[in-house]
Amino acid sequence: MALVNARDMLNKAKAGKYAVGQFNINNLEWTKAILLTAEECKSPVILGVSEGAGKYMCGYTTIVGMVKGMINELGITVPVALHLDHGSYEGAKKCIEAGFSSVMFDGSHYPIDENIAKTKELVELTNKLGLSLEAEVGAIGGEEDGVIGSGEVADPNECKMIADLGVTMLAAGIGNIHGKYPANWAGLSFDTLDAIQQLTGDMPLVLHGGTGIPADMIKKAISLGVSKINVNTECQLAFADATRKYIEAGKDLEGKGFDPRKLLAPGFEAIKATVKEKMELFGSVGKA
Ligand code: 13P
Repeated sequence: MALVNARDMLNKAKAGKYAVGQFNINNLEWTKAILLTAEECKSPVILGVSEGAGKYMCGYTTIVGMVKGMINELGITVPVALHLDHGSYEGAKKCIEAGFSSVMFDGSHYPIDENIAKTKELVELTNKLGLSLEAEVGAIGGEEDGVIGSGEVADPNECKMIADLGVTMLAAGIGNIHGKYPANWAGLSFDTLDAIQQLTGDMPLVLHGGTGIPADMIKKAISLGVSKINVNTECQLAFADATRKYIEAGKDLEGKGFDPRKLLAPGFEAIKATVKEKMELFGSVGKA
């Protein structure tokens, strides 16, 4: 199946009260693990690419080539969207040119008027090309250089202003953060989420920072209109943990255990298991 935009899969998820996972990719193993798991689970899936991961993987056209080739060679039949994560205005345009089917423009750090103006331009461009667009209000916090910032809580009226521009999906800060949650995390602000959903109606809402949010909070967020959940760090932790165990057990020193196809296999399987667990929790299994 060709790449699709995320509109249909997210509108269906919102109506059906489940969420589609966005899993960020970092290399070939990540991409293959996520695509194969989505196919096995008969789940729609969104492959997320941050600008940093884009550079790491040799640019957006390399990624488009890899993902399209894999969908073809692996016989993937479930809907797959290739999506820029937290894009700048320029990054979004580059991904559109390279052949991504979906982009996020994160204008949450701009004053609201500038966020609106830039998002509006990208709504027009993505609509013309049949792509989906995610916008953001209220920055998502997280750990950067060892400093942990608490997640902002978005203003529901600003969310409505951005939603009314005609974006496909809206990410709103509700106290969520990227990376691991600190022990004193206050949890998600469900009152804010409820207020946002009441003002934005059918708009699929996006929950960033999916790693480490307890299952009951995930379920409650879905019941309040979240239809896309982003997961990145959890796959990285699972990969690192499985790889460490392989090396600590000395398996790279046995026979041809140093062959990258063997060395990276436990990490690959760990990503698959993590993605499957999330798809089950989000309720997207069997929805492709
Ligand atoms: P985590 O790394 O916390 O899972 O967050 C992922 C994310 O929100 C990507 O945009």
